Order: sequence, then structure tokens, then C-alpha cells
Amino acid sequence: MSLDDLEFDHARAAVFDSLADGWDERVARPSTEALSQLIDLIEINGKVVLDIGSGTGVLLSAVTSKSPAKWIACDLSQRMLEILRERYEGKIAGLEILKADAHCLPLCDDSIDVVLCNGVYPHFRDKRRALLEIRRVLRPSGALIINHFVGRDTVNRIHGSSQNEVLRVDLLPPACELVELLRSIGFVVPSQTDTSDLYRVVASLPSEELDQW
Ligand SMILES: C[S@@+](CC[C@H](N)C(=O)[O-])C[C@H]1O[C@@H](n2cnc3c(N)ncnc32)[C@H](O)[C@@H]1O
Repeated sequence: MSLDDLEFDHARAAVFDSLADGWDERVARPSTEALSQLIDLIEINGKVVLDIGSGTGVLLSAVTSKSPAKWIACDLSQRMLEILRERYEGKIAGLEILKADAHCLPLCDDSIDVVLCNGVYPHFRDKRRALLEIRRVLRPSGALIINHFVGRDTVNRIHGSSQNEVLRVDLLPPACELVELLRSIGFVVPSQTDTSDLYRVVASLPSEELDQW
């Protein structure tokens, strides 16, 4: 296995490339209200936002009236990002498109104000490592939201019965387990929801990181 294989998840990239065309018809789209409610949880105007697992840009329809300093749409899948570019280039303030793996982000330390992970957390093959990488790029006081617009059971049923073998192990843990992991690496977690129709964990870094991290 090459270093590149360790740092870039080619297996999942290939699966999501193959699913990208028709993705928006295949998956239930969150309502406009649900999208706005998520985006309005945190101030993004003037901020640098990293949307990991952006896919075709489902969150971006709620961002057109906002003014982020930068909105970095990051995904493994070239084809997902091509569709996102066709739809949103020139329509979102500060839009940048980044093909990268969450486990190894080509971004500087302390360079991001807000990280959004919508519908992607179960796909991280090493969840602790991906969260450590997110922590590295977040500024002190930076925020992280891990979100699914459906409940955990639904996510796990869909992934567990996927035709793509690689996705069958991509399961969402109970929010309390994710919260414990986040706290163990220095995040503060003010809010968690794990109900039958929403999964959401809102976390942040302390204002100045302690030396031990
Ligand atoms: C289930 S889709 C969700 C897409 C979008 N957020 C949505 O809600 O429609 C997951 C996306 O995450 C991407 N992805 C999976 N693992 C990733 C990783 N390690 N780093 C970056 N993106 C990843 C996939 O390529 C795919 O586009």
C-alpha cells in the first residue's frame, strides 16, 4: 500500500464518483427550512468555512444570501465536485473547490473558522484521525458541526444494506460516543441531538488550545 493510498481513500472516491450523476434524485433532499436552520446555527458571514464531504453542494442553496470570506467545498469525489462547480461557481461568495480526503487536508493549521460535515462522518475510515485533522485546521474557538438530516437508524440501515461493499461498514455511532471522542481530543460539545429524524453534534475548540493538545 503506497503512502497515497493511506492518505486518500481511493475506494470510497470511486464509489462516490460512480454515484454522483443522479445523486440528487437518489437521496431525499432536506427542506429549505432545515438547510437554513443548520446554516444559521453559526455565524458564517466573513468566516472561512470548510464543508467536508460537500457532495454536489446540498448545503450551498442555503448560502447564496450569505457572505463567507471563503467557502471551501471539499470532497474525495472528482465527479461530485464537478457537478457542484457547474451549479455554484460564481454564485457563492469565496467558493473554493478542494479535492481532498478529510484524513489528510492540504490546509494550514488554524486556518478555518467553521467545519461542516453533513452526511459524511460515517464514511471516515479512521474517525479519530479525521477529527484530529479537523482539529488541526480549526482556529481556536472554531466550530464543528456533524450533521445528518435523518436519524442514525436510517443512516445505518441505508449504509448497512448498500450494494457497495465498502460502504456497508460506514456506520454512525450513537451521538454520546462521538461526543466522548470529541471531548477526549479537546473539543467542547455544547449540543447533541440523536433522535429518529435528526443527528447533530455541535462542537467547538476552546479559545486558546492547551499545550497538551
Ligand atoms: C453521503 S454523501 C453526502 C454529500 C452531501 N454532504 C449531501 O448531504 O448530499 C458523502 C460525501 O462525502 C464524500 N466523502 C466520503 N469520505 C470522505 C473523506 N474521507 N473526505 C472527504 N470527502 C469524503 C463522498 O465523496 C460523498 O460526496
